[in-house]
Amino acid sequence: MANESAISLRDVKKSFDGGHEFVLKGINLEIPKGSLTAIIGFSGTGKSVMLKHLLGLFKPTSGTIEVLGTDLSTLNPDQLTKFRCNFGVLFQSAALFDDMTVLENVCFPLFEHRRELKPAQVLRIAEEKLHQVGLESKHYHKLPSQISGGMQKRTGLARALALDPEILIYDEPTTGLDPILTEMVDNLILSTHKLKQGVTSIMVSHDLSAAFRIADHIAMLDSGRVLLFGTPEDFFNTDIELVKKFVNKGMKHQ
Ligand SMILES: Nc1ncnc2c1ncn2[C@@H]1O[C@H](COP(=O)(O)OP(=O)(O)O)[C@@H](O)[C@H]1O
Ligand SMILES: [Mg+2]
Repeated sequence: MANESAISLRDVKKSFDGGHEFVLKGINLEIPKGSLTAIIGFSGTGKSVMLKHLLGLFKPTSGTIEVLGTDLSTLNPDQLTKFRCNFGVLFQSAALFDDMTVLENVCFPLFEHRRELKPAQVLRIAEEKLHQVGLESKHYHKLPSQISGGMQKRTGLARALALDPEILIYDEPTTGLDPILTEMVDNLILSTHKLKQGVTSIMVSHDLSAAFRIADHIAMLDSGRVLLFGTPEDFFNTDIELVKKFVNKGMKHQ
């Protein structure tokens, strides 16, 4: 089947209070397979809530969500847990296990989900992922508290890559980082995206210049709706006032 969308949301609505306030008010979005898509928008507009729907952590009140051709509503909880292996996720905090070494953190999803692998194979894959994100082997046996913030991000990304996911999700990966670390993480997202043909990357970002620099598609959310979806060029050429305002404001603050 020729389905070029990695993700499609059709009229997705979500209310947490049983019907009055809608956080998502009818999201329609097709994220092309193999794209690096940035999700932008003011805070509180539903970006993280939308990502959690893609992961099946929230269920829509109405509407449908398809990921890699599968309608999430057809999966039972066990199937959903397995299906989540298609995703690699990196949040604002790297969310590493504090009492595990760098290497153990990256081995964890492999021991959990690839039980057929021998320990030596798990180690080899984990080391390969750590190498891929540029972490030197002298740090592999350190605890997260013994490495820098940048190395923690690299470790979190290596762990997200452990299961060779088809879709990578980043929720505000650089919020709160200094400019140098921000650029490092953005470049890492881009190089990771380019390394595996066909992988789909979705990044929620406050950082507009990064979104314009590295993303090939951008979706702007406002009050639970998609205000504009297009290429960076579409965003510069738009007539939609709110998008213009957001872009001008965001670019001035960089
Ligand atoms: N679990 C939840 N229960 C109720 N309301 C929530 C929940 N999660 C998020 N919200 C609300 O949904 C709205 C959008 O939140 P969010 O998606 O986190 O915004 P952002 O665009 O900044 O990521 C906010 O008003 C938030 O309070
Ligand atoms: Mg958010």
